[in-house]
Amino acid sequence: MRASIYCDECGTVHEINEKIVMCPCGKGLAEVRFDELPKVSWDTFKGRHWGVWRYRELIPVPTDAGIVSLGEGGTPLIKLRGPTRHTFLKFEGANPTGSFKDRGMTVATTVARYLGARAVVCASTGNTSASMSAYAARAGLKPIIILPEGKVAKGKLAQAVLHGATIINVKGNFDQALEAAVKVSAEGLAYLMNSINPWRIEGQKTVGFEIVEEMGVPDWIVLPVGNAGNISALWKGLKELYTAGLIEQLPRLAGIQASGAAPLAKAFKHGVEEPEFVDKPETVATAIRIGRPVSWKRAMRAVRESGGVFEEVSDEEILNGQRELARNEGIGVEPASAAAYAGLRKLVDEGIIGKDERVAVIATGHALKDPEVAASHPTPSFSVRPADVVTLVMGLISD
Ligand SMILES: Cc1ncc(COP(=O)(O)O)c(C=O)c1O
Ligand SMILES: [Zn+2]
Repeated sequence: MRASIYCDECGTVHEINEKIVMCPCGKGLAEVRFDELPKVSWDTFKGRHWGVWRYRELIPVPTDAGIVSLGEGGTPLIKLRGPTRHTFLKFEGANPTGSFKDRGMTVATTVARYLGARAVVCASTGNTSASMSAYAARAGLKPIIILPEGKVAKGKLAQAVLHGATIINVKGNFDQALEAAVKVSAEGLAYLMNSINPWRIEGQKTVGFEIVEEMGVPDWIVLPVGNAGNISALWKGLKELYTAGLIEQLPRLAGIQASGAAPLAKAFKHGVEEPEFVDKPETVATAIRIGRPVSWKRAMRAVRESGGVFEEVSDEEILNGQRELARNEGIGVEPASAAAYAGLRKLVDEGIIGKDERVAVIATGHALKDPEVAASHPTPSFSVRPADVVTLVMGLISD
């Protein structure tokens, strides 16, 4: 299994056992690439546990690295009632820390420990920090997290606290927090665990492997886009499967952004190559409250190559989507994930996705990540004396 780390701007090549998260050229993103894809078939994986490491031949971590795992991946694929006749939801909220980030974190933490890192650092809208804190605890590494102050959902913050992370709140947005994290890493103080770390991508690509292994290649995969690491990872993985001959066609990708943080969706709509970044992103979906997606080039390329689209949804559409999924399907997702579902609904209404098409929508995080938004939806609620409960329910039932 020969692989190297390439810079996607200047082409510089590094060995996989080098501590490289960013190319020294400072322009490109690093990417793990196989020199030649390993010879695998679906039978190679059969009989193994579902999850990220089911596909270990396609994750080229150094062979003598001890794997740091909490049993991530292998999440449910749930058939929905709509909005197309064949819509399946990949529930990434079922991961160990409640979001898809665990897929990338098992791989990046494995490599961090292998490379001898002692501390790990990330900037985060919440889920990366929750996940990194748990995996760092598991691996015996020191987690340092940099957060946009006051903009991280309570559930995610609670996880970071519980796992003992050192929390640095900055008076700024996610994009500024990421700049700070990159500087900490460049000083050699800690190993960077954001999705610009190429090993995160190697884990996150497995969500696509699971989807196609379980339902075949759908016509569309719909997912939320913030910093754009996940959509880049998904496309990288799918192309590897295609090149290895494991799938015969590729799906189209639909990347969904929140209207207040939608530089890629707006660029797509206007047909321009370079997005106009958003200085003050704002949305109820704090996980994707990102104005300057670091992987924007890869994401634009992925959507273009796949013949897909970007779309944006308003906060109102996000909250309606969250409520609809929770009440019509029994699935509780956080607002960023509801954005993907709301986006899918919109694309079907617009006729871009056909009612007969086979769709997988990725619900990236669990509803409990953001308990305040979950609890903000209207529902019948009463406060009465115990003796009055039966009478009250009688009245309600007879309505
Ligand atoms: C729940 C959730 N959905 C979607 C995203 C967006 O993923 P990416 O930043 O890789 O585009 C995030 C990122 O934090 C997230 O936490
Ligand atoms: Zn470079």
